[in-house]
Amino acid sequence: MASPRVSVIIASTRPHRIGHQVAQWVLDAVPADLHVTVHDLREIGLPFLDEPGQPADGHYAHEHTRQWSAKMLATDALVLVMPEYNRGYNAALKNAIDYLYAEWEGLPVGCVGYGWHGASYAKSALRQTLERVKMTVVDGPGLAFGKTLTQEGVVSAGHEDDQALAAMFEELRAKARTKVPTVAHD
Ligand SMILES: Cc1cc2nc3c(=O)[nH]c(=O)nc-3n(C[C@H](O)[C@H](O)[C@H](O)COP(=O)(O)O)c2cc1C
Repeated sequence: MASPRVSVIIASTRPHRIGHQVAQWVLDAVPADLHVTVHDLREIGLPFLDEPGQPADGHYAHEHTRQWSAKMLATDALVLVMPEYNRGYNAALKNAIDYLYAEWEGLPVGCVGYGWHGASYAKSALRQTLERVKMTVVDGPGLAFGKTLTQEGVVSAGHEDDQALAAMFEELRAKARTKVPTVAHD
């Protein structure tokens, strides 16, 4: 069987974000046999949802939607590297999820949150959205300011976080999607 393809999404789009440093900690732990691709929402630059139709219909008017869809259809598992903003997850991530629908079905997803208290509020808000679009949610670590992460983005995760990250990748591998959903794309 081919190596599962894992996409790591950097959710923060802020100019002075620390998300890419947290993402580097995640990337350093990807098992060698997984095929990893990074999708940076700041680089992808999706506009605020501008599709005329319902994403659940799968008929996309815009090239940026078709490109985003193609990226998510070409992955077997997902890792979201995500900050907590105002006790929720960031708007750019919600927007990126809202753009698509069928693409998410059956996709195993692990969330690496960061913030005060390990982004626990953001993670629990995100879980509801991920379950709504029928993703398979896998536990992931949360990095906490003042404990395992500095506000400048230096990760000092300990054994527990490293273990949680490794366990997340194992579960993503075990649950990797094998059947690509059908999307109309016209
Ligand atoms: C608009 C905004 C709201 C925030 N609200 C929270 C919050 O509710 N809880 C928290 O733990 N951190 C909060 N923070 C702090 C962020 O976790 C911190 O700035 C982090 O670096 C954001 O990730 P980023 O730099 O990758 O964008 C907030 C930051 C911003 C910009």
